[in-house]
Amino acid sequence: MSTILITGANRGLGLEFAHQYAADGWEVLAASRQPEMSADLKQLAAQHPTVGLHRLDVTDEEFVQDLADKLDGKPIDVLLHSSGIYPREGQHIGEIDYDGWREAMETNLFGVMRVTEALLENVAASQRKQIAAISTSLSLLCGVQGGSVAQAGTSYQYRSSKTALNMALSILAKELEPRGISVVLLDPGWVKTDMGGAHAPLSPQESIAGMRKVLAGKPMEISGKFLGHDGVPRPW
Ligand SMILES: NC(=O)c1ccc[n+]([C@@H]2O[C@H](COP(=O)([O-])OP(=O)(O)OC[C@H]3O[C@@H](n4cnc5c(N)ncnc54)[C@H](OP(=O)(O)O)[C@@H]3O)[C@@H](O)[C@H]2O)c1
Repeated sequence: MSTILITGANRGLGLEFAHQYAADGWEVLAASRQPEMSADLKQLAAQHPTVGLHRLDVTDEEFVQDLADKLDGKPIDVLLHSSGIYPREGQHIGEIDYDGWREAMETNLFGVMRVTEALLENVAASQRKQIAAISTSLSLLCGVQGGSVAQAGTSYQYRSSKTALNMALSILAKELEPRGISVVLLDPGWVKTDMGGAHAPLSPQESIAGMRKVLAGKPMEISGKFLGHDGVPRPW
C-alpha cells in the first residue's frame, strides 16, 4: 500500500486530496493544525481505517519535529504540501502589512521547506520518493494571484511567497535528483474553497482529480517542473 502525507488536510484542497487518495486505497497521513476539531477528517478516518490524523502547524518547529519523531522510519511515498494562507490586508504601497507578509513566507515558503527537511528520509525510504507542493499560476478569470513574475496583478504577500516557493523547490529538485527523489510544483487552477471563494470555476473534485493524474506519472519525469491540474506546464 502506498502512503501519502498531506498538510492542510482538514479543509479545501487538502481535504479533497485526502478523500480521493483514501478512496483509492492509499494510507493517508492527514496532517492539520487541530485534527480533533475537524469533523470532516474524523468522519473520513471513521470510513477508512487507512486514514490517520496527525497534528501539524507548519510554522512551528516543535510540531514539525514531533511529527518527524512520531513517523521515524516510516516510508512516505508522496509528501504533499497543501497548507497555505492568503493574507488579505495591506496589499497596496503605503499600507503594506508586513506581519501578514512574514506569516505568508513562514507558511507558504518556510513551512514547506521545514516539513520537507524533517520528513526527507521518510520520502527517501519509500517506493515513489515524491514531493509535491501547491503553488499558483495565472487563471484567466482570476489573474491577480499567480506566482509568476511575468504576470500582472496585486497581492505582494501571497504572490511573492509562492514565487519564492517555486524558486526554492526548483533548487530542491536539482539537489535531490541524485537520490532519485522527485520534486514537483502544481497549479490547481482557481478552485472553490475558502481561499478560492464561491466564484471560482473549478470544483475541488475536478482540480484534485487532475493533479492526481499528474502525480501518478513517472516521478522523475515531472521533477523540477511546474505543472497545472491539466498537466500543462505553467510559466515561472
Ligand atoms: N483555491 C484556489 O483557488 C487556489 C489557487 C491556487 C493555489 N492554491 C493553493 O492551494 C493550497 C490549498 O488552498 P485551499 O484553497 O485549500 O485553501 P484553504 O481552503 O484556505 O485551506 C488552507 C489550508 O491550509 C491550512 N493551513 C494554513 N496555515 C497552516 C499552518 N501554519 N500549518 C498547517 N496548516 C495550515 C489550513 O488549516 P486551518 O484550517 O488550520 O487554517 C487549511 O487546511 C494553498 O497552498 C493555496 O495557496 C489554491
